[in-house]
Amino acid sequence: MRVLIIGATGRVGSAVLAACLSKNHTVTAFLRNHNKFPPELLMHPRLHIHQGDAEDHASLVSAIRDQDTVIQAAVYGSTSPYGTSDSEKVVRCIIGAVKEVQANPSRRRERPIKLWVMSGQVMMDIPGYGTHGNPLIEGDVFPIHPEHYKNFEFLQKDAGGVDWSLLCPGKLDQGDVRVLLYNIR
Ligand SMILES: NC(=O)c1ccc[n+]([C@@H]2O[C@H](COP(=O)([O-])OP(=O)(O)OC[C@H]3O[C@@H](n4cnc5c(N)ncnc54)[C@H](OP(=O)(O)O)[C@@H]3O)[C@@H](O)[C@H]2O)c1
Repeated sequence: MRVLIIGATGRVGSAVLAACLSKNHTVTAFLRNHNKFPPELLMHPRLHIHQGDAEDHASLVSAIRDQDTVIQAAVYGSTSPYGTSDSEKVVRCIIGAVKEVQANPSRRRERPIKLWVMSGQVMMDIPGYGTHGNPLIEGDVFPIHPEHYKNFEFLQKDAGGVDWSLLCPGKLDQGDVRVLLYNIR
C-alpha cells in the first residue's frame, strides 16, 4: 500500500513511519524540515520524502495524489494554553486536498483514499471511567486538546465523500505505536 505520513518527524509520525516500512508499505514522509529526519532512513528503497507545509494546499495535493492511505500525525494538540495549536487548520487543509485529489477524473477508478486522523483518548467515552474507584481520564478534568473535539465535529459535518477515521490512543510510547498500527490497513 502507498502511505503518506503527514508530520513524519514527530513522536507519533516517526514511529508510524518505521512501522509502515517494517510492514512493507511504500511510504512518503511529508515533513517541513529535512534536517530533523534520521539520515540513515533516507536511502530506504521504499521511502520517499515530500518537503512541504501541511497548511499549503498545493503541496498537500501533490503529495496525496498518488496515495492509497494518508495518516495525519502533524501537530500535537495543545495543553496549556488550550486551543492554540494549528491542528484544526491542518486537518481542514488535508480534507480540502483529499477532496480535490478525489475529484480528479484520473482517480475515479481507484479506491477512495483512506484518511486516518490522529486524535486522542480524550475523545473516548470509556465505560467505568470517572466512577467510584476508577480514575478520571485527563480530558474529564481539564479541557485538554480541544482541537480533537473540534476536528471531530468538522469531519462529521464537512468531510462528506472522504473515507476518514479517528485514531484515539492514550499516551503513546514507541511500542504502543506499533500495536496501534495493526488497526491501520
Ligand atoms: N504523543 C502522544 O503520546 C500522543 C498520544 C495520543 C495522541 N497523540 C496525537 O498524535 C498527533 C501527533 O502528536 P505527536 O506527539 O507526534 O506530536 P509531535 O511530536 O509534536 O510532532 C508533531 C509533528 O507535526 C509536524 N508539523 C507541525 N506543524 C506542521 C505543518 N504545518 N506541516 C507539516 N508538519 C507539521 C512537526 O514537524 P516539525 O518538526 O517541522 O515541527 C512534527 O513532525 C497529535 O494529534 C496528538 O494529539 C499523541
